[in-house]
Amino acid sequence: MQTVQQAITFCSDALDAAGVCFGHGCDNAWDEAVQLVLTVAELPVDSDDSVLQHALDEGQVKRIGQLLHRRIEERVPLPYLLGRAWFAGLELRCDERAIVPRSPMGELVLNDFQPWYAGPEPKRLLDLCCGGGAIGLATAYYHPECQVDLLDLDPAALALAEENRALLKLDNRVTCLQSDLFSAVAGRRYDIILSNPPYVDARDLAEMPAEYHHEPELSLGSGTDGLDITRRILAQAAEYLEPHGLLVVEVGNSWEALEDAYPQVPFTWLEFEFGGHGVFALTAAELVQHQASLSHG
Ligand SMILES: C[S@@+](CC[C@H](N)C(=O)[O-])C[C@H]1O[C@@H](n2cnc3c(N)ncnc32)[C@H](O)[C@@H]1O
Repeated sequence: MQTVQQAITFCSDALDAAGVCFGHGCDNAWDEAVQLVLTVAELPVDSDDSVLQHALDEGQVKRIGQLLHRRIEERVPLPYLLGRAWFAGLELRCDERAIVPRSPMGELVLNDFQPWYAGPEPKRLLDLCCGGGAIGLATAYYHPECQVDLLDLDPAALALAEENRALLKLDNRVTCLQSDLFSAVAGRRYDIILSNPPYVDARDLAEMPAEYHHEPELSLGSGTDGLDITRRILAQAAEYLEPHGLLVVEVGNSWEALEDAYPQVPFTWLEFEFGGHGVFALTAAELVQHQASLSHG
């Protein structure tokens, strides 16, 4: 017989010894082992210690071993192996059609966009470059008055977003559209635009650990300095925001290149309690005021 605790300890030690990269929702071996074992055991991933003595059956022990082997030998991110990921307290379907959701913007959604958004209760929100839909779907889930558009260029990612929309029963308030950035929503205006676009620069892309090679190519790289897509977003966003609106974009490690490219633009860099960096906000008024430099950045 093997208990949950024994299996977690075994997996955690094996993950540490193998030197796998943590960057897909967990930042340490123990937490990843907990997700692996509890998911296979069909126990909630936020279970308390009372599950530690729970006995695993033979099939579960075998399955844990198989997944652990693939995690270590093939470096597949755990959420792809489990077919699910957790974001802002929600369980979502997750597979190689889109990146594993992990944006710190989940915290922003849970904090009702405070203290950065100063407009009325948001009624229309855009998740630009939505991937599997995590950010926009979490917004719709926690803001029942809000209509949300999810846009992505990649039809495969969008298909996953549609499955997650159905899973969360949000079909009546969330629209999924294939779109090259804003092309499919001409004329619409939003209270808030959130975007976690591709932003990895060429140097970081070349050095990424094996885990990231399982993610869609279109999701990560964005030109030499990582800002090709972000430049286009900055040039166009004002046109799609209400006057009280807010744009929030994640650029990760490319934040310094962004500051260098637009020295006159007053980016506000968000701080997160639970980790994450390289996410900026600009109000609609700031975008309008700096439109000339943003159009030519
Ligand atoms: C870093 S992933 C983010 C996915 C999702 N926002 C998340 O946080 O999980 C970036 C997404 O941008 C999409 N994308 C890339 N170029 C695009 C474009 N020109 N227009 C719309 N989406 C694009 C990719 O297909 C990918 O799904």
